Amino acid sequence: MTRTVYVNGQYLPETEATVSIFDRGFLMADAVYEVTSVLGGKLIDFEGHAVRLKRSLDELEMSEPCDKDELLEIHRKLVELNEIDEGLIYLQVTRGSDGDRDFVFPDPETTKPTIVLFTQNKPGLANSPASQKGAKVISIPDIRWHRRDIKTVQLLYPSMGKMMAKKAGADDAWLIEDGYVTEGTSNNAYYVKNGKIVTRPLSNDILHGITRKAVLRMAEEAQMEIEERLFTIEEAKEADEAFTTSASAFVMPVVEIDGVALGDGTPGPIAKRLREIYLDESMKAAI
Ligand code: PDD
Repeated sequence: MTRTVYVNGQYLPETEATVSIFDRGFLMADAVYEVTSVLGGKLIDFEGHAVRLKRSLDELEMSEPCDKDELLEIHRKLVELNEIDEGLIYLQVTRGSDGDRDFVFPDPETTKPTIVLFTQNKPGLANSPASQKGAKVISIPDIRWHRRDIKTVQLLYPSMGKMMAKKAGADDAWLIEDGYVTEGTSNNAYYVKNGKIVTRPLSNDILHGITRKAVLRMAEEAQMEIEERLFTIEEAKEADEAFTTSASAFVMPVVEIDGVALGDGTPGPIAKRLREIYLDESMKAAI
């Protein structure tokens, strides 16, 4: 089945969808994105992603390509056309193209944003073998820019981080700045010690994860203890367990940090429980 994608108002076969070579997303990484998961053919936390998209656009003074209702309709139509039961929807908005290369932003009156959405079919996403095994992470310096709260497509360093992890025989990397863990390359980071969940508080230093917000709410409802504060990688290495959260992997147990096994080296009970609660509650609330 050929994938149908969405570009600037049109649903097209992926091979026919095009964007200008002058598009600022391509030339300048002048673009923001969202990744929304699909379970049982329904969207998980669409509202959260739509609100964060608006915030990213506002922070960069970029125009909205369409309103929330239209965005929801596009998401739903792509799920339907591509028969997605479990998977992801990728959305990207760029500042568009004024037909040349210039550092100065084009006039938003004459240059409209580019909007692209496509689906990624991932059968078995909720029950992935990776989540049952848990992830091994390494720590690397965080050399990204300082507006990580804006979900831009500047993903070269996160990609390099994943490659460094791969070369080291691990699955992912946690980023360290001024001696403290910021987050994972594409997820928020947590450790658990004596039943208490520790994670970095929200600021411009990390992405305000939609999954993070939901998981912390659910943890609180389940009477789990949460502490939002800066933490070091040494603390995390001495933890009973650890995990990450993201729309693409939900709650992912972390079983090893820099070669040090956590607990017995298998996914911990709190990460497993939170994953179950998150999947269960999110599917019930999916639209
Ligand atoms: N990444 N931190 C970073 C740096 C991220 O890139 C992501 C998401 C998160 C988690 O945010 P959320 O829970 O809203 O997905 C945290 C997406 C999934 C990606 O780039 O594919």
